[in-house]
Amino acid sequence: MAEPLLRLESLSKSFGQVTVAKDLALSLDPGEALGIVGPNGAGKTSLFAMISGDLRPDAGTVWLDGRDVTGVPPHARTRAGIGRTYQVPRPFTHLSVFENVLVCAHQGAGLHGKQAWSQAMDVLERTGLADLANTAAGRLTLLQRKRLEVARALGTGPRLLLLDEVAGGLTEPEVAELVEVIRRLHAEGLGIVWIEHVVHALVKTVARMICLAGGDVVADGEPVAVLADAKVRELYLGAGPETGLTDEEGS
Ligand SMILES: Nc1ncnc2c1ncn2[C@@H]1O[C@H](COP(=O)(O)OP(=O)(O)OP(=O)(O)O)[C@@H](O)[C@H]1O
Ligand SMILES: [Mg+2]
Repeated sequence: MAEPLLRLESLSKSFGQVTVAKDLALSLDPGEALGIVGPNGAGKTSLFAMISGDLRPDAGTVWLDGRDVTGVPPHARTRAGIGRTYQVPRPFTHLSVFENVLVCAHQGAGLHGKQAWSQAMDVLERTGLADLANTAAGRLTLLQRKRLEVARALGTGPRLLLLDEVAGGLTEPEVAELVEVIRRLHAEGLGIVWIEHVVHALVKTVARMICLAGGDVVADGEPVAVLADAKVRELYLGAGPETGLTDEEGS
């Protein structure tokens, strides 16, 4: 059987009384697209931090392509093929869009000269940012900053792309544009894990979804089935309409 791209084994992490992962297990096949939903504070971003190496779990193992990377620092995990975006975009505001991605191709993918340039240009084309290549990142709109966040992660040449709420705060047409970008990346064969409160965007993109709560996976399966799950619906009750959990999608 093929090795999973990513495997999390018995992952546990607490901040004092707050448990963000509790003996959590998860596996992702190469090229698979997985959506993650869960209430605020469920531990979704913390999970990404443990996968990318920004946060060390108290216990458990992170496997990438069958290799234990639990003790591997973030920059080496980037080189190993993990690219992540941040919930709050973190561009170098004084650099141009192109330079922002070039830094990632250089530092993250270890490319130099022409190779780094062509990787950065390629990524700008794939994320719809080519026309803004020379614009300072600090001047971008929210949608453009979200695209740049994806572009910077792609610049590092990942096989596993971790997206943290890249659709948050966007208008519906903007969400639709971003969905197209992410669907194309998935079609190119990239493994994708996408945390998102804009659930209808996830449903259009991923074939599998999990719901995290209390540091554990409470549902795992086809998006429509997960959203219809009684435990998941209970977790979202009273969470407000921005969750996107409607009867239409849940049925
Ligand atoms: N470095 C930290 N130190 C202390 N507590 C933390 C730290 N990082 C996260 N937490 C806490 O852990 C819990 C989970 O946070 P996390 O950011 O992983 O949640 P989330 O599921 O991404 O939520 P959201 O949907 O709001 O982004 C929260 O209660 C948060 O305050
Ligand atoms: Mg978060």
